[in-house]
Amino acid sequence: MTKTLLILPGDGIGPEVAAEAVKIVNWLRAHRGFDVAVSEDLLGGASIDVHGVPLTDAALEKARAADAVLMGSVGGPKWAGQPYDKRPEAGLLRLRKDLDLFANLRPAICFPALADSSTLKREVVEGLDLLFVRELTGGVYFGTPRGIEDLGNGERRGVNTQVYTTSEIHRVARVAFELARKRRNTVHSAEKHNVMESGLLWKEEVQKLHDAEYADVRLEHILADNCAMQLVRAPKQFDVILTDNLFGDILSDQAAMLTGSLGMLPSASLGAKDPVTGKQPALYEPIHGSAPDIAGKGVANPCATILSLAMCLRFSFDRGEDADRLEAAVAQTLADGIRTPDIWVEGCRKVGTAEMGDAILKRLAA
Ligand code: NAD
Ligand code: IPM
Ligand code: MN
Repeated sequence: MTKTLLILPGDGIGPEVAAEAVKIVNWLRAHRGFDVAVSEDLLGGASIDVHGVPLTDAALEKARAADAVLMGSVGGPKWAGQPYDKRPEAGLLRLRKDLDLFANLRPAICFPALADSSTLKREVVEGLDLLFVRELTGGVYFGTPRGIEDLGNGERRGVNTQVYTTSEIHRVARVAFELARKRRNTVHSAEKHNVMESGLLWKEEVQKLHDAEYADVRLEHILADNCAMQLVRAPKQFDVILTDNLFGDILSDQAAMLTGSLGMLPSASLGAKDPVTGKQPALYEPIHGSAPDIAGKGVANPCATILSLAMCLRFSFDRGEDADRLEAAVAQTLADGIRTPDIWVEGCRKVGTAEMGDAILKRLAA
């Protein structure tokens, strides 16, 4: 049966980078027997402009029905200042929450050719291959109470709630342990148990699950602030970093610079496999945002989105060989010295988004 892929280009550079992934999907359909029906819908500000909401019920149902969703990015100054439920980001958060995409996999890999593109020294980042497993549907992003209340006398009070339950911690920790077993068998669990009860619960429950089912995996607990420091001091000590929604958001942006650019980090947001049908809800998204400062200029790096497509091919479409080839095509293109401005160094050829996508496609087709 024909599989389905929903593309949500979003805002800012989202449509620019998503277009490069679509080129690759079309090539795979034409030349590699990739039997997939592709459709597109609006998300974020693009949806607000047309429908008044950042994600329509119809688009949400399309996403639920699809075998996989690939998105660009959402947000931008045009929609700032609105109440939270009317902002572009709310559409993405609803998509994650309603599809129960609790595990966000964010691999930070330094491609050999990019060891000099990082702001850190070559020896610190060369050979880096770490994986964040970020909890994506809980914590302070969704906890209640939340809001801003007026206390009178010109005083206001802003509240968000960090909250986790045992089962929320176990299901995402399980993903981290399972993936670690296929890698270098080490999990660092990052929280702030020294100041937060939710952090203490996180630490205790991760340890319990480990002792009961994953005692063969090396587990280290690390305070999130120390983790941030270690990520720039000696990032190669890490294999899998398991962390909550907010720390995962921050630490993964930081780790992106170890790879050369925020424009290099892909991600997969996965739900639980249906035990009967085997279907697993999945959203593939670059970790970067809509980059308003460069949007519309045709210079955004499409690699994060193209690498997200590779994860999509591997996890949702069982096309591991195509995924390997696509990742190799990205690595070769970078080795050819073809670079968007964010990863450009002296001696390389500076290209725009479309030219970068074309070069990767050419390598893929070779
Ligand atoms: P951002 O990630 O959009 O940009 C941060 C910096 O990185 C900018 O200088 C940008 O030019 C650069 N950058 C990002 N992606 C790049 C790429 N592919 N190629 C080259 N350079 C790239 O973060 P921001 O500016 O803080 O946020 C802008 C908007 O994006 C906000 O509305 C935010 O909420 C939203 N956002 C969305 C997502 C998402 O859709 N998943 C993720 C992060 C931020
Ligand atoms: C990300 C983004 C999102 C997040 C925003 C846009 C809601 O920063 O995917 O990293 O905070 O999760
Ligand atoms: Mn982020």
